[in-house]
Amino acid sequence: MAQRTYRFDVVVIGSGIAGLTMAVGLAREGRNVALVTKKQLEDSSTNWAQGGIAGVLDTSDTEAIEKHIQDTLNSGAGLCDEDVVRSVVMEAADRIQGLVNEGVSFDRSKDGTFDLVREGGHQENRILHVKDKTGAAIEGTLIKRLHDEDVSILERWMAIDLILEDRNDPSKGVKGVWCLNPMGEVHSISSSTVILATGGAGKLWRNTTNPSVATGDGVAMAHRASARIRDMEFVQFHPTALAIPGDRPFLITEALRGAGGVLMTSEEHKDYRNKGGEPENYSYMKNVDSRGSLATRDIVARATDRVLKLTGKSHVLLVTEHLDSDILKNKFPTISQRLSSNGITLGVDPIPVTPAAHYMVGGIEVDDFGRCKNLDGTTFKGLFAVGEVACTGLHGANRLASNSLLEAVVMTHRALEYALTITSKDDIKNEGDIPPWRAKGLDNLVEHAPLKADLETLQSIMSDDVGLLRRNERLQRAQRKIEHIAKEIDLIWRRCIPTRKLVELRNMSIVASLVVEAAISRKENVGLHFNLDQ
Ligand code: SIN
Repeated sequence: MAQRTYRFDVVVIGSGIAGLTMAVGLAREGRNVALVTKKQLEDSSTNWAQGGIAGVLDTSDTEAIEKHIQDTLNSGAGLCDEDVVRSVVMEAADRIQGLVNEGVSFDRSKDGTFDLVREGGHQENRILHVKDKTGAAIEGTLIKRLHDEDVSILERWMAIDLILEDRNDPSKGVKGVWCLNPMGEVHSISSSTVILATGGAGKLWRNTTNPSVATGDGVAMAHRASARIRDMEFVQFHPTALAIPGDRPFLITEALRGAGGVLMTSEEHKDYRNKGGEPENYSYMKNVDSRGSLATRDIVARATDRVLKLTGKSHVLLVTEHLDSDILKNKFPTISQRLSSNGITLGVDPIPVTPAAHYMVGGIEVDDFGRCKNLDGTTFKGLFAVGEVACTGLHGANRLASNSLLEAVVMTHRALEYALTITSKDDIKNEGDIPPWRAKGLDNLVEHAPLKADLETLQSIMSDDVGLLRRNERLQRAQRKIEHIAKEIDLIWRRCIPTRKLVELRNMSIVASLVVEAAISRKENVGLHFNLDQ
């Protein structure tokens, strides 16, 4: 296999809101950009995001801004970086306007103002949305903008590892990335600036609302390159993923609870049907939190998990029969369609739901410009992380609903501005030698079955032992098992020509061990981390 080196000013890895925004912005300023994405452009978590983007649009409304700040801090359970929270919330209006300028048509009310909705943990209606497909609207718009620019789009290319200036001294920074191309060949992309926008790691759990590309690649690559990773114990489970046996979990947006949907067990639902009255009064959530079904996600998901364990059931019910079915169908067309293909009518039938892994709150530690940090806290030369893969300090121990798209637009804008200062369109610096991928003596991977088995085992460990409710013994057990799997994968890795599945599994085993290690180290229950033995 002849290895080639491709040279770019910047390589962006990932094609969700963060990766697309970066690639478009850099290319507009004349940078020579490669965008690497391991399936197709639209295979990203952004594309699947339903709810919306939180933000106060009237910058003179200090009270409303302060409430958004307080809701974010409250949800983050004392672990947010308050300066980051304040600055991100205050920049929301400008960046949301930026999305509008790109062509995103957020829904408006009859009077022409934006139709703002509410989700869990928000005191006020402040979420802009496009029906129940906000992410798809943003993704589609940014993909159009991408095609307007001269960007080398490398679909079905998979980043394997960062190429460092000096493997023994990561502080010298990056000089590119090794990638697997669609033919299974490894090539080098030489670039003094690398943007990691690879999203989360939901695929580590059996039930996830994430697309299958969410395998923690950016965190694993950055970790291998000695960047600093933090807060990995905070894994957000969305309380309401559609639970249909044999079907993948499908997100039922929290905005449906914002519109009045109420969680109940089947028994509570029977009582409600018999006796009627206020649906909230029947919900198991009413004894858990005064906000009921609209409490923050950590609280709702944990309470739901408890109920499922106590009742031995596979799902609870999201009840909407007290709401107007036609209005709901109009507001939530994607959900309505998905439900009806399963014989469920929105606003008529109860919806079976269960918690599912949804969002990685931790990630690669970055500064205010998206620059990755080294282990010693200095910035990692040339390496940026934006979107879900980055840990900015905004979310603390638990992300507030619809703050992730906000974080992505604000932080990506800052990273973009910074990246423009360190890259120059007139100055092709990437002429140095790029080390070849270690190709000598590697065999073709002939047995794929062990990889499949390892993936399933990893997902079982994470789902059973590193889920919403944790225990010391289970975490220790998970750690031992993951260590064993990681060693097995490493043996295959050293011997075989990489395949996409092997690269992903190697990354997943590393991210799994980071989550477990962080969960073991966290000695108090806070936000999304809950250990029954603490
Ligand atoms: C949702 O629509 O419930 C998800 C929004 C989010 O994850 O913030």
